[in-house]
Amino acid sequence: MLFQPTTFWNLMARRYARSPIKNLEAYQHKLDMTARYLSPQDRLLEFGCGTGTTALIHAARVSHIDAIDFSSEMIAIAREKVVEQNVTNVRFEVAELEDWPIPEDGDGYDAVLAMSILHLVTDLDATLGRVYQALKPGGLLFSSTACIGSQSALLRSILPPLGAIGILPKILMLTPDMLTQAMTAQGLTVEHFWQPAKDAAAFVIARRPE
Ligand SMILES: C[S@@+](CC[C@H](N)C(=O)[O-])C[C@H]1O[C@@H](n2cnc3c(N)ncnc32)[C@H](O)[C@@H]1O
Repeated sequence: MLFQPTTFWNLMARRYARSPIKNLEAYQHKLDMTARYLSPQDRLLEFGCGTGTTALIHAARVSHIDAIDFSSEMIAIAREKVVEQNVTNVRFEVAELEDWPIPEDGDGYDAVLAMSILHLVTDLDATLGRVYQALKPGGLLFSSTACIGSQSALLRSILPPLGAIGILPKILMLTPDMLTQAMTAQGLTVEHFWQPAKDAAAFVIARRPE
């Protein structure tokens, strides 16, 4: 690989921070759906948090958020926003989910946020297994995931070679069924599925059973 996986995101971070959210209505719906489940005493983990937009929106609704991303540039921007917005209950750290200390069983997070990240991980099963471990029994995963597995053959043939050399991130060719089956295989129960349009990102809420 020509570039490290973090290189793309470090280079993109400032532009990513400036670019408008593509489908604001869908994003707002996902925020609203998530907010319905949150309580003031909740402790959340967000991984692949980017510049922290979602964590900072939910911060006022919960007790604490640990928000992590493997891109130091994304986290630098998120920390600038924390200061600007005077938010005190979100901790932004440069880290990957696999290295993030998981709380003792039963003392896990009330919720894990995985927004636009599950299609980017190297091992979806391992990531979802880690999410399961990070959640307390009854805890919830909120996720939004690009599902491009049924898109055009041309697109599906262009992306892997670019991902292999690191010019673009590697993207998993998921379908909604593959995504929800992967969650179920790790012991999570899918409670809510929403895809605003064919080929749009799938919003899934899944629970670690009690
Ligand atoms: C598409 S952005 C989404 C950011 C944010 N969650 C949002 O919804 O705006 C993906 C983020 O995940 C991080 N990321 C990408 N691949 C990753 C991986 N394999 N492991 C950990 N983080 C990754 C990137 O640095 C980037 O900030």
